[in-house]
Amino acid sequence: MDSGETIEHEGPEDAVEESIVDDGDDYRYHSAQPAQTASADGDEGRWSIRCIDVVKRLAGVPVLNGLNVSFPDDTITVVLGPSGTGKSVLIKHLIGLMFPDSGEILVHGESVPRMTMPELLHMRRRIGVLFQDGALFGSMNVFDNVAFPLRQHTDYSETQIAETVRQRLADVGLSDAIEDAPSQLSGGMRKRAGFARALVMEPDIVIFDEPDSGLDPVRTALLCDLIQEMHEQHGGTYLVVTHNIASARQIGEYIALLWRGRIVESGTAEQMFSSENPFVRQFLSGAAAGPLGMD
Ligand SMILES: Nc1ncnc2c1ncn2[C@@H]1O[C@H](COP(=O)(O)OP(=O)(O)OP(=O)(O)O)[C@@H](O)[C@H]1O
Ligand SMILES: [Mg+2]
Repeated sequence: MDSGETIEHEGPEDAVEESIVDDGDDYRYHSAQPAQTASADGDEGRWSIRCIDVVKRLAGVPVLNGLNVSFPDDTITVVLGPSGTGKSVLIKHLIGLMFPDSGEILVHGESVPRMTMPELLHMRRRIGVLFQDGALFGSMNVFDNVAFPLRQHTDYSETQIAETVRQRLADVGLSDAIEDAPSQLSGGMRKRAGFARALVMEPDIVIFDEPDSGLDPVRTALLCDLIQEMHEQHGGTYLVVTHNIASARQIGEYIALLWRGRIVESGTAEQMFSSENPFVRQFLSGAAAGPLGMD
């Protein structure tokens, strides 16, 4: 994670007594089984990221409420969920910007909440994050934004940096904008610049928080194409968090549906789009009628 933003710690030290709040009715459509995401079938190595019984309360409200989910290696996973359901909070837990009140988060088998700060910083270097608005530094041009992680974390020469930055910007179709200030870019270009920066350290895991927000459907589809192309080229675990079903349909190989701080169901795109679960069916078809209301 290399955007250089201030890191806020909301750690166990300010945690209240944790417990999973169980209003059975709220969770009647949640058919995901912890075993589904555990090593029941003996393929532990398959999961890059695992969340086990994660509980996080914010302002007294359980935002993650017994979350069990795993994200497979070398796959594009889409985490879908309605607004305000805890998707961004989940991302913050994965990169250690927030810590759970209880439960475990494993990245490549290592516990994020138990990492020391140097271990956390080391882990974050292996994770590229594309924040919602691209999170570019307004005072730097596109080149310097993308070069930033390399200058911070590597001993590359300026020549090597220039070569890498030019390559990544060419990948995302921004060669012509290399000298531009972020304020000169359109929303879609800012996201692509953020994407180039997220890739520059050759991360094993790339996380996208709502890459499609604020983009029209065509630009969203083009960005999804780009995500897919980059995944084909570089491999790794891609995690795309969104409430956009079209994006999930376009690029999701594995899909997890989050609601009320727990996974309703997760599985391959094929399994999810043929699910019998009324909540999953409603959400994935974008229907007004069904268990999900306005509340
Ligand atoms: N630092 C915080 N303090 C208190 N409450 C918070 C904090 N961060 C998030 N929340 C609350 O947690 C809930 C989940 O927020 P989150 O940002 O994860 O939603 P989301 O699923 O990403 O939504 P969206 O699709 O709108 O981005 C919301 O009710 C939000 O108000
Ligand atoms: Mg969010």
